[in-house]
Amino acid sequence: MKRTRRCARYSESIFQFNNKFCFKGDSVHKDKPSKTAYKVALNVVTLGAKSGMDRILPPGIVQATETLLVASGAAGARTVRWSRSQRMVSVYKAFDWMLPGQFEAFAHRKAFCERQVRDGIDGDSSQILVLGAGYDTMGWRLAPEFSDVNFFEIDHPATARLKGRGIEAMGQRDNLYLIAEDLGEQKLVDVLETNESWDQSARTVIIAEGLVMYLSCEAVRDLFCQCAAITGVGSRIAFSYIPAGADGRPDAGRWTGLMLWLQKVIGEPWIWSIGPEDLGPFLEDSGWTNTPELAGTTCKHGVEFYAVATK
Ligand SMILES: C[S@@+](CC[C@H](N)C(=O)[O-])C[C@H]1O[C@@H](n2cnc3c(N)ncnc32)[C@H](O)[C@@H]1O
Repeated sequence: MKRTRRCARYSESIFQFNNKFCFKGDSVHKDKPSKTAYKVALNVVTLGAKSGMDRILPPGIVQATETLLVASGAAGARTVRWSRSQRMVSVYKAFDWMLPGQFEAFAHRKAFCERQVRDGIDGDSSQILVLGAGYDTMGWRLAPEFSDVNFFEIDHPATARLKGRGIEAMGQRDNLYLIAEDLGEQKLVDVLETNESWDQSARTVIIAEGLVMYLSCEAVRDLFCQCAAITGVGSRIAFSYIPAGADGRPDAGRWTGLMLWLQKVIGEPWIWSIGPEDLGPFLEDSGWTNTPELAGTTCKHGVEFYAVATK
């Protein structure tokens, strides 16, 4: 009861707060595909060229990402070729002086998310929902392996449509649903309530990868509340977050000031952060229970920690 009341308090916020859920860069160019999703995907391609990363990256992710980028038209074949060159590996490595571990962090993040999905399915989850999926290929790769599980992805129409074109060329999956919705205009609960294939009582794994740092505190709380409202008992939500520093701002280490400024300049400011010790109460207020034992890691990768909460 207590949780329901608290969640209801925030039900107005996130998806009606256009600029809170949308990344500023994305919301400004609403009709253009996401630049941040493109950057993550190219980073994955470059990681495929870095030695040792095959031990961390989920199998098949690099090739699927390359194919998706080209087949969708999001990137040209030349850009993809350049991204998997050793020169590009060196460029990314050079940027690690500022944010140690950040280049490899995407590999760890992708591996973490996929592990959560596989563990969730092992634990009888029958639905997977990826919020702000971008050019992530997990749903497309895992759908044939788990034909009795439904995979849902939501992204802004401009990105989802482009991705849809790529998926069509790569081969549709019967149990993969790409939902093209602007969640700045539609509430997540409404989007899924009208989707015939979505089952509100099903045990579900929700992935919010590289997402919450771009939202306001109220928007994150509301997002988690809505996720709790649309899923069954035993569901989990796996996400990455930037820890808060002593001053309450996202802590990116020695170069925090510069990083916060750079993120703002590129139109994707980091807004939300939280101390790992405050995560439990925050999640409790949002209808979830912090479950660190399921995360499988307490390490910080680049600027992010990974967390899992259950319902
Ligand atoms: C940083 S990218 C992350 C992509 C993916 N999670 C990954 O890590 O590979 C953020 C994604 O959120 C999506 N997004 C931003 N605003 C949105 C909105 N209002 N509705 C739906 N999706 C949105 C963007 O289109 C983009 O694909």
